[in-house]
Formats: sequence, C-alpha cells, structure tokens
Amino acid sequence: MRFIDLSTNAMLKPKPGIDTIQPYQAGKPIEEVQRELGITDIIKLASNENPLGPSQLAMQAIAESSRQVHLYPDSNACYLKADLAEHLGVSEEHLILGNGSNDVLQLIGEAYIVPDDEVIYAAGAFVVYSLVTKICGATAVVVPMHKDTHQLSAMAAAITEKTKVIYVANPNNPTGTMVTADETAAFMEQVPPDVLVVFDEAYYEYVTRPDYPQTLPYVLEGRNFIITRTFSKIYGLAGLRIGYGIAPPALVEPMNRVRQPFNCSLVAQAAAREALKDSAYVAESQKHNTTGKTFLYNALDKIGLRYTQTEGNFIMVFVKQLGADIADALLKKGIIVRPIAGYGYPNAIRVTIGTEQENERFITALSEIIKNERTDTTQQ
Ligand SMILES: Cc1ncc(COP(=O)(O)O)c(C=O)c1O
Repeated sequence: MRFIDLSTNAMLKPKPGIDTIQPYQAGKPIEEVQRELGITDIIKLASNENPLGPSQLAMQAIAESSRQVHLYPDSNACYLKADLAEHLGVSEEHLILGNGSNDVLQLIGEAYIVPDDEVIYAAGAFVVYSLVTKICGATAVVVPMHKDTHQLSAMAAAITEKTKVIYVANPNNPTGTMVTADETAAFMEQVPPDVLVVFDEAYYEYVTRPDYPQTLPYVLEGRNFIITRTFSKIYGLAGLRIGYGIAPPALVEPMNRVRQPFNCSLVAQAAAREALKDSAYVAESQKHNTTGKTFLYNALDKIGLRYTQTEGNFIMVFVKQLGADIADALLKKGIIVRPIAGYGYPNAIRVTIGTEQENERFITALSEIIKNERTDTTQQ
C-alpha cells in the first residue's frame, strides 16, 4: 500500500489565497466561557440574536417536524418558498434559500465570481464579503466608509471593467449604519448592467428610519440585484440556519445549480414557515429592540461613551481603551460582547441589544470597568 506524504505532497496545497483567510471569529458560546472562566450566569450579547428566544409557533413546528427527521428535507423548499413569495409579493422563482443568508452570500460567489474579477465592498462592512472574495480567488476593492457608513458614491466610482459584484450591508454589521433610498437610487443609476449588486438586509425588519431603501423594485425590474435576508435575526432562528435571497429568476437559476441539494434542513423549513406567520412576535421583537436601544443610548450618554445610531439589534460603542480589553473585562463579569478591531475599530465593541435585565447588567458592568480604568489612570 502507498501512503501519501502529507508534508510534501503538492497536490494537497489549498487554492491560492486560502492561506490568507482568517477562520471566522464567532461570538464565544456561553458553554465555552463557563468552562474557561468557571463562572455561571453568563449572558451573550455578541452575535445579534433575538433576546426574546424563538416564537412559540416556531417552537411548536420544531417539535412536530422533529418526528420527520429520518427523512431528507424538500430540496426545493416548496412550501416555505410559496409562503415567502406571498409574504414578499414575488414569485417562487425569485427565491433562493440558504443555510443562513451567509450561505446565499457564498453561493453568489460560487455562481458568479472568478479569479480575474474584482469585488467591491466597504472597509468595516460585514466580514463575509471579504471571505467570499478570497475563497473565489478574486481581487477585493475595499472602499473606505464615511462617518462609519457605506459611501455608495465612492463605491460606484471604484467600478472598473473587472468589477463583478458589489456587496452592501444595509444596515451594516458592526456599525449599525444604513444607506438611504436616495443614495441607493443614485448609486443604481451609475452601476452598469453587467455588475451584480448585492444588498445584504439581514436586519431589514429592525430598521425604523423612513428613508431606508425598499429594494424589491430593483429585483422586480429585472436589474442585476440580489437581496439577502435571514430568519436568524428578528425571526429568532439563528441556531437552525436558514436565510434567503431574492433576485430576478435568471440570477437565481445558476445559484440553484451550485447549492447543496439539501442546504436547508427539514426542521428549519418548518420553523421558518411558522416564524413568518408570527407577526405578533415580530412586532413585539421590534418594540422590544426600540425600547432597549433607547435605554442603552441614554445609559451610554450618562457614562459619556459615544456610539453610532443603529438600525439593527446591536450597537457599536466607542471606548477610550482597546475594545478587546473592555470585552475581556466584561467577559470576566460574565458578559460576552464582540471586540471589533478586525473591522478597523480597535477602540470599540459591539453589543447586542438584550433583554431589559441583560441591558442593565451590561451597563452596570461597563460603568464599573470604565470607572476603575479612570481611577487607575489618575493614580498613575
Ligand atoms: C450583515 C449580516 N449579514 C449576514 C449575516 C449572516 O446571518 P445568517 O447566516 O445567520 O443568516 C449576518 C450575521 O450576523 C450579518 O450581520
């Protein structure tokens, strides 16, 4: 028998560029922090999940559908697509489902991006666009933000003959900022028809500003436009992994060819259908988020910390120290938040808007940490 020498076999080298990818840094799971620090009563405000938990209707669907998990799911997710199509006012052919919207963002790369292409996204935009660009071996064209916000005019100016895809997170994670309807309309006038525009609207249902762009018309007009949305955020199903893309059918079709046949589980499909129906739960989640946001804004004002106005279910908070140090200090008090130096914000953290109790606990802990730091500096 011949064994392959793993240390020398050139065949085993990954594709060019893969070695430049940093594995995705997810928010620490509660169990890991419990194990590492030996503390209980931990709260996680690090991954922008819905603090209210899943909807009752979705939980019922999870219990019922679990009796069927010896069967493969419907590969085409017919029932969920029919429900979504009705909910959105599009046809089923406009929809592509994914293992989270992350999967759809990646399917776009698999179906469309080749190594010679350029992909435009903003510095400080959601990290997956850079990941997809690297996986596809394409060239990233990273456009600076202005006031922590995507500058669509600068992104349009960065388009070249090689541009294939432009990713825009609206609202953006981690900044929480958004581009407006007018900015989007002006941008779309400048984008040539052979460039694919992707609007990542993972936090769509949380947005309260009236000047937020409704982008479905771009899809319905048959423009090169893909919207991605998710059941992970307001619909409270992050752990089940289900999201979707909305695009002209001609753009959906190639993505359907490259996706895994069973990329959305049977339980996820059943839960998503019920979550979509549970408009009372969505409304409660929106209200809860607005109340939490107001509480946190007021409390942060009192502590004297700056933050960005958010349209999501999280807030980017600027600190005087390194965000990583503050996140570490919070962790020791059992509160998991995200340092965001990797997004170009070394002096900031991102905190998910939690339950009333969680928000209060976060503010109390943060105030103590900052007070101690201030005392330490004055004593030096
Ligand atoms: C802007 C943005 N897009 C997409 C996602 C991916 O979410 P999911 O794959 O759970 O749908 C996230 C998750 O945090 C996000 O913040």
